[in-house]
Amino acid sequence: MKSKIIGTGSYLPEKVMTNYDLEKLVDTSHDWIVTRTGIEERRIVAEDQCTSDMATIAAQRAMDKAGVKAEEIDLIVLGTITGDYPWPATACIVQANIGAKNAYAYDVSAACSGFLYALASADDFLMAGRGKKALVIGAETLSRAVDWTDRNTCVLFGDGAGAIVLEAQEGDTGVLSCHLHSDGNYLELLYQPGFGAKHPPSAAGIEAKLPYLKMQGNEVFKVAVRSLTEVSKEALKANGFTSADVDQFIPHQANLRILEATTKRLKLTAAQSFINVNKYGNTSGATIPIAIDEASQQGLLKEGDLILSAAFGGGFTWGSTLIRW
Ligand code: UT7
Repeated sequence: MKSKIIGTGSYLPEKVMTNYDLEKLVDTSHDWIVTRTGIEERRIVAEDQCTSDMATIAAQRAMDKAGVKAEEIDLIVLGTITGDYPWPATACIVQANIGAKNAYAYDVSAACSGFLYALASADDFLMAGRGKKALVIGAETLSRAVDWTDRNTCVLFGDGAGAIVLEAQEGDTGVLSCHLHSDGNYLELLYQPGFGAKHPPSAAGIEAKLPYLKMQGNEVFKVAVRSLTEVSKEALKANGFTSADVDQFIPHQANLRILEATTKRLKLTAAQSFINVNKYGNTSGATIPIAIDEASQQGLLKEGDLILSAAFGGGFTWGSTLIRW
């Protein structure tokens, strides 16, 4: 038995924010952002939208593509760090929205690795027999977690959602492996200090901008390239493949320079690598399912293809998956 992807879907908000729009907000330039990150524009939610709204549309599209009804879904796993509420899980809100009344639903918090963590978790449950069909979603509203006066971070992120339907099937196609890692020693290089139990809501906390994402980009960059490379090699080695066997590498989209450095170390060609960070920026846990859906729509993922995916994010967390499409 394997967990096979039988449908994909995504949703990007209509509002486009270009680098030129950002030039009006902070001391930055289109050239700086493109040169350092490869990002040209990103999407931003409408005032009345939040994470569950995007996740619901992406999930519905994935189910439509799969030809699966909401009642058939046994579990919903949502990777996010920008859920609608601190609790309950945004996955439960999506469950109610789509009417998946037979499912159990929960969120996974692994920052930019959230989707791969969610995928691994759903795959394990399906393989253990705790259901036949799973919705795995990555959805983020980063625009509500960044400090729009901090040029070091606000230019990098965007909003969006992607989803897949996984089905436990007999055969050789589907998820071949998932490798996950974390190292909590790096907490303060990439995190959101407030408001949680450590720093509960306070006027002083707002003044100190605790509810906004903090990142030491330069330090994160180096560990990201190293970890993405190692965890990708780990996936290939565990399955007896080399990078030459990979048909599409679909990495977490944080920064074009990180992707280029990683693909170079893995000896992957540009034709093997899917990149859309220029259009959407870093949507954290949503980048990989959005990219999978786009690659699928563009006809880049064919039956039998070998798909490698890898992610790195706050925690630190990182991971990879190999999928026989
Ligand atoms: O999703 C996983 C987690 N996140 C990541 O993977 C992101 C990892 N990091 C990065 O992508 C990059 O480190 C950044 C894009 C965040 C920054 O690029 P960098 O080449 O590492 O630049 P830097 O942080 O070393 O900053 C270089 C200069 C600094 O000025 P000084 O100190 O040299 O005078 C910054 O103040 O660029 C300045 N700078 C900017 N200038 C114009 C920082 N942000 C901006 C900006 N516009 N938006």
